[in-house]
Amino acid sequence: MSDILVEDRDGVAVVTLSRPGHRNAVTYAMWRQLADLFRAFDRDSSVRSIILTGAGADFSAGADISEFDAVRGGLEASKAYEVAVDAAGDAIYEVSKPTIAALRGYCLGGAAHLAMSCDFRVAEGNAVFAIPAARLSIVYGISATRKLCALVGVTQAKRILFSARRFDAGQALDIGFIDQVAEDALAAAHDRAAELAENAPLTIAGAKFILNGCARGTLDHAAASRLIDEASASHDYIEGRQAFKDKRSPRFLGK
Ligand code: COA
Repeated sequence: MSDILVEDRDGVAVVTLSRPGHRNAVTYAMWRQLADLFRAFDRDSSVRSIILTGAGADFSAGADISEFDAVRGGLEASKAYEVAVDAAGDAIYEVSKPTIAALRGYCLGGAAHLAMSCDFRVAEGNAVFAIPAARLSIVYGISATRKLCALVGVTQAKRILFSARRFDAGQALDIGFIDQVAEDALAAAHDRAAELAENAPLTIAGAKFILNGCARGTLDHAAASRLIDEASASHDYIEGRQAFKDKRSPRFLGK
C-alpha cells in the first residue's frame, strides 16, 4: 500500500495519500484500498480517531486522470470506477470513529469528495479547492454531491459544480466547506484527534450514526436506538459515572 501510508499512534491513525510527484492523484487501486482501510478501522478498537492527509505540498489533485483511458474509458468502466470512488467516500463517511481531513495545497475533484467524507476539515491558508468535473464532462457522483450540498447548501453547491472555479481557504471557511483554517493543518488535526480519542467511543459512534442519518435523510431509528441502548448498558457508562464521583478523567474502552 505504498501510495497510501498508515501510521497509528496513541489511538490516532494517520492516513496519508502519498504520490507527491503526481500531486497525490488518487488511482483506481487507491480508491479501493481506501475503502478496505476505513472498513478495517471500523473493526479495530485500538483506533479512536483518524486523520486523512496528503504527502508533501498538497492534499490531492483528485482522481488520477492519466489512467482514465485505461480504467474509466467507456460507460461500463466509468460506472465501475464511480462505484469504487463512492465506496471509498462512504467507508470514510460511515466509519464509526471521528475523522479529520488535514488539507494544504490542492484539494480538487475526487479529493474534495474524500475531504467532504470526513467529519471535520482543517486547511492551511494556501489550500486551493475546486471540483473541475465541468472541465472534463463528468457528472460529480451522487454520494459526493449530496455531501457537498449538506455542507454548503444548494446554491453554493451549484456555483462550485457549474463553474468548476477555484476557491481559497477563506472562501471555503465562509461557505462551510471547511470548519477551520490553521497555520499547520496536520498539527491542528492532531490536537483535535487526540482530544476526541479521549472521549467515549460509543457516544461518538452513536452521535455520528444519528447525525449522518439526519444529514442524508435516511436515519434508521431502530439501529440508532440499539446504539443508544448499547451505550447505556456499557462498561464505559459505569466508568463515566465512577470517574465523575472520583473527580478524575474517565478511561473509556469503547464497550
Ligand atoms: N491526475 C493525474 N496526474 C496529475 C493530476 C491528476 N489529477 N494532477 C496533477 N497530476 C500530475 C501532472 O500531470 C504532473 O505530472 P508530470 O510531471 O508527469 O507531467 C504532476 O502531477 C505535477 O502537476 P503539474 O500539472 O505539473 O503541476 P501544476 O502546478 O502545473 O498544476 C494542477 C497543478 C493541480 C492545477 C494541475 O496538475 C491540474 O489541473 N491537475 C488536474 C486537476 C483535476 O482536474 N482534478 C480533478 C480530477 S477528478
